[in-house]
Amino acid sequence: MPSFLKKIIGSVYRGWLRPRFSLIQQQRFKLLWTIWGYWPILLIKPIGLKDRIRLILRSMRVDWYVQHAHWPGEIARVVAAIGERKARLGEVVVEAGCWQGGSTIKLSIICDMLGYRLVVFDSFQGVEHVPGDPFSGKYSAALDLVKKNVAMYGQIDVCEFVPGWFSETLAGNTFQHPTQVLYLDCDLAKGTQEVLQGVLPFFVDGGAITSQDYPIKAIKALLDNKDTWRSLGVPTPVLVDRFRQLAIFRFKKHTVPVTAVLALSPLLPTVAVGGQKGFSGSGGVAPYSYSIEADTTGGASIDRTTGLYTAGPTLGSSTVRVTDATLVTVETIVG
Ligand SMILES: C[S@@+](CC[C@H](N)C(=O)[O-])C[C@H]1O[C@@H](n2cnc3c(N)ncnc32)[C@H](O)[C@@H]1O
Repeated sequence: MPSFLKKIIGSVYRGWLRPRFSLIQQQRFKLLWTIWGYWPILLIKPIGLKDRIRLILRSMRVDWYVQHAHWPGEIARVVAAIGERKARLGEVVVEAGCWQGGSTIKLSIICDMLGYRLVVFDSFQGVEHVPGDPFSGKYSAALDLVKKNVAMYGQIDVCEFVPGWFSETLAGNTFQHPTQVLYLDCDLAKGTQEVLQGVLPFFVDGGAITSQDYPIKAIKALLDNKDTWRSLGVPTPVLVDRFRQLAIFRFKKHTVPVTAVLALSPLLPTVAVGGQKGFSGSGGVAPYSYSIEADTTGGASIDRTTGLYTAGPTLGSSTVRVTDATLVTVETIVG
């Protein structure tokens, strides 16, 4: 759009529309020129054209009914980053800062289509108070309202909500799920640092760190500083895309240090009908999760986190699998 036209629209918008209309009405009006930003969703390969169009239409519905703090062109790039491939075992997407759930809804739809869980961290009390910060206390929305919005317009079944300040829920409290995409939108450098601290130890190789706050000076300085990443024990990621306030970073190398080859013990054990056996993983990258991949004992089970296996009521065998945080797997047969 020519710059003179942009200026005219901008001054009409600021001088005439803003004072006369509510925030949600302004958001609806802005769609006239922001809606085109959804085009990256049309290029998402793992879902068919119908689903891409459905995703855009459902996102527009959110723009109409739920007040939010992003532009279509920003969230569409985050959605497209999630849409690069289907989820692998246990992979999640993390949103840090959801306000009324407008972004959560859009992320939940693509997560549902591709098999990711969406874990949403927020204080549900607004931006943390930091003396002198212009955003302190803003964007406050109760968890009930967010859940109601997501249930109404998105896919609440794939969402998990973790209420609390990032200093309590994430910093120094590693979030032990392989994370494919992180969407950061908390308006504070302190919060951004805390989220990175919690999420990066299990960040998936090739995943995307997306920040909706890049123009905020302190946040840009934090993300552009090599020491930030060094202190978190990971290589400095590369800024691969920018659109308005959104920045997308990716790592070139593995961020998770692999110590030794993953192993499962005991190998090939025998267990009586209905009996129990404890399995444990070693090497690879903790934490481990345990599952049964095949079973002829009539209903064997295994505790996902402790590895305690219980055989079914008939004579047979089961295939037990351990999966580490980088999604490497090892199997054994118990019978
Ligand atoms: C700008 S809003 C998020 C907007 C939302 N992503 C959207 O697009 O509509 C910022 C959010 O970050 C949350 N937040 C800010 N600082 C936080 C902190 N230290 N711990 C937890 N939540 C925080 C606020 O509660 C608020 O919901």
